[in-house]
Amino acid sequence: MTDWVDRVFCEDALAGMARIPDGSIDLILTDPPYNLGKDYGNASDQQSVDDYLAWTERWIDIALPKLKANGSLYIFLTWRFAPEIFVMLKKRLTMMNEIIWDRRVPSMGGSTRSFSSVHDTIGFFVKRKDYYFDLDAVRIPYDAATKKARSRSIFIGAKWLEVGYNPKDLWSVSRLHREHAERVDHPTQKPLEIIERMLKASCPPDGVVLDPFMGSGTTALAARRLGRRFVGFELNPDYCEVIQQRLAEPEAPVKKKAGAGRKKSPVVPAQAGTQVARAAKTQTNLGSRLRGNDEVEANTFTTEGSTP
Ligand SMILES: C[S@@+](CC[C@H](N)C(=O)[O-])C[C@H]1O[C@@H](n2cnc3c(N)ncnc32)[C@H](O)[C@@H]1O
Repeated sequence: MTDWVDRVFCEDALAGMARIPDGSIDLILTDPPYNLGKDYGNASDQQSVDDYLAWTERWIDIALPKLKANGSLYIFLTWRFAPEIFVMLKKRLTMMNEIIWDRRVPSMGGSTRSFSSVHDTIGFFVKRKDYYFDLDAVRIPYDAATKKARSRSIFIGAKWLEVGYNPKDLWSVSRLHREHAERVDHPTQKPLEIIERMLKASCPPDGVVLDPFMGSGTTALAARRLGRRFVGFELNPDYCEVIQQRLAEPEAPVKKKAGAGRKKSPVVPAQAGTQVARAAKTQTNLGSRLRGNDEVEANTFTTEGSTP
């Protein structure tokens, strides 16, 4: 039974992940609440520290058995709780990278009693040594000037010069400001460019990615664009509608499945009796939560560095 694939369930992930068989997921890619007090129409980002860490450990222990033996996990965090959560994960998996997402926030005010924080912390973990990883799929091409500068005979034919370089662990990509073409109605939407890099590197074509905290559905949309399959959860029914709309956009190629019968909707609404989802619906006010992200910057990875 794979009726859980290519679906986003509008329900609590901690209960909903029971739908997914153990050992069936290639990649867990998730951006959980950071517990910084944001209003997602539920209290998930407004917990006491103890409750937040205990809740985090609970969903981690539900999610990890779903991974295949050669599977991986990426988790978005901030410096506030990354240390505690990395320790939790290091007891269960092998940590491969701490990736810094430099959000390219321009210098405009900020804190006066500490340094302004302009990065998110991403942990990359694997289950076993033979984990899936396709570096060639995410290499960054050298620009013409660099290639020309390396045109001495020792560089000619060098594979890495032709195929590009390893993106390294500092990813400099503008956050999605209010006017950005990609921006939808979710306060912490992540750029497709970042999610797509993770998918290309760590989820094989036609593999399945699990995102327990879908938000606006960036992981699902990226998976669909790249020919991967997805499964995920989102507690807030308004965000589920956003996901539904994003997945219905014509740019998202709908994969045809052999023997597929009637077309299923990718977003499964909350069951009538799902209290948490209904409570979330009554609390939400998306318009007022969309904060000002008013800088306009190119959404590109840096091209620093010159070695593979
Ligand atoms: C940081 S946001 C994810 C943003 C997403 N990466 C995107 O690009 O739009 C976290 C999301 O998790 C949802 N959430 C919180 N607790 C949840 C739970 N128990 N089950 C499912 N979703 C939950 C919140 O409503 C919120 O939309």
